[in-house]
Amino acid sequence: RPADIGVYGLGTMGANLALNIAEKGFRVAVFNRTVEKGFALRDDNPGIGDNVVPASTLKEFVASLKSPRLVLFMVPAGKIVDAEIAEVAPLLSPGDVMIDAGNADFNDTVRRSRDVEGTGLNFVGMGVSGGELGARHGPSIMVGGAKDTYPQLEPILTKIAAKYEGAPCVAWLGPDGAGHFVKTIHNGIEYADMQMIAEIYGIMRDGMGMQADAMAAIFGEWNKGGLSSYLIEITAVNLAEKDPETGKPLVDLIVDEAGQKGTGRWAVIEAQKLGVGATTIEAAVSARGVSSRRSERAEASRFYAGIATEAADFSAEAAGIAELEQALETAKIIAYAQGYATMASASEEFGWNLPLGTIAEIWRAGCIIRSQFLDDIAGAYETGGVVNLLQSPAFIGRVEAGQTALRKVVAKASMAGIPVPALSAALAYFDDYRRARGTTNLTQAQRDLFGAHTFHRLDRDGVFHHRWPAV
Ligand code: 6PG
Repeated sequence: RPADIGVYGLGTMGANLALNIAEKGFRVAVFNRTVEKGFALRDDNPGIGDNVVPASTLKEFVASLKSPRLVLFMVPAGKIVDAEIAEVAPLLSPGDVMIDAGNADFNDTVRRSRDVEGTGLNFVGMGVSGGELGARHGPSIMVGGAKDTYPQLEPILTKIAAKYEGAPCVAWLGPDGAGHFVKTIHNGIEYADMQMIAEIYGIMRDGMGMQADAMAAIFGEWNKGGLSSYLIEITAVNLAEKDPETGKPLVDLIVDEAGQKGTGRWAVIEAQKLGVGATTIEAAVSARGVSSRRSERAEASRFYAGIATEAADFSAEAAGIAELEQALETAKIIAYAQGYATMASASEEFGWNLPLGTIAEIWRAGCIIRSQFLDDIAGAYETGGVVNLLQSPAFIGRVEAGQTALRKVVAKASMAGIPVPALSAALAYFDDYRRARGTTNLTQAQRDLFGAHTFHRLDRDGVFHHRWPAV
């Protein structure tokens, strides 16, 4: 029996996705540059392995697929994808579909979609979230590409995707780069969410003197409330874990230098190009950058060791902990509002007509940012008329109620010298966003003075240039 789909690239994500597909009853052809990996995947997985069809050559791999062929690439983003497309495309026939399931830059996906135009081949850019376990047991899947190819993928994708109350977390979101763009924003939000959690951890550790165990208990509690999410859940696990050798909290032994592979940075770059403030994501990406300059920070800490900061005014009593919880919840709403505003703007700019409510629905399970909160966002879009989540009735009350806590936490952290770049970015954005009369009237005046850039007036229509006094 020919295979239903082929997976090219058997790294952690590819191998797990192939096993997920095989387990759901589909025959999956597999290929990897190190050919043995495909055979090992079949042989090491009794039962499921019966549906895994390894190939020794690319030709054999393609020949084992039923027509029209579905070839899914799961390889690191970048040049490797182009190289593999160049190898595989000549072996395919009109009607066949190539699917890039990696974390691609959506600009590359748009280009690759254009490249196949006129060849009869189809290209799909598909974001897959959920890490290793998600790929194996149910990821969230964000599909972009020609709409008429989706029915060919749908039977497999709906079976392998995560389920939220029975509904599969997969959807076709728009043409060419739409799926990868949405995955990029997912990751940007993931970065902001993680950074804000780390900042709260920093307050607990450095401002309250709490130990990892105590913090684990608090995050465990928070996971039962409004913050309930996968990221809060794993934070509790991370903080509770002990190093087997020393018995110390493992988190205390981990070097404070964060890696990054690019999607967070792309989210910020695209938001900037669209003129949307995604300042919480930017703060998170920058914080990872600063973190990676560890020895430079050590030097800087010597120069400024003596500067005057106030003793941290945080209380580890229930009210103080509740304040942190509310601050985090409020900042989180603002961060998601920025991510959604970026998608709304991209949708308009690229004519994608992104289904923003559906995106929240398919993020409710399977992906890294999955949470109860996404169901609230889905609900807001279902009600309709959402200009920005910060203007949605579902969130106005929550932000109104929580902003004081966010303000207090940011103010206290600033006075104590505890960095809260993402939390403070959220607050600053909120205050800027809710202000009917801003301050760029002065910016416009300056621009007009030095460059005759012109300005509009509040009291009359038209475009004006003023002859400012010579400086
Ligand atoms: C996911 C994750 C996953 C990965 C990102 C971010 O949705 O499953 O987002 O794709 O965590 O690539 O990785 P970095 O933190 O290394 O940039």
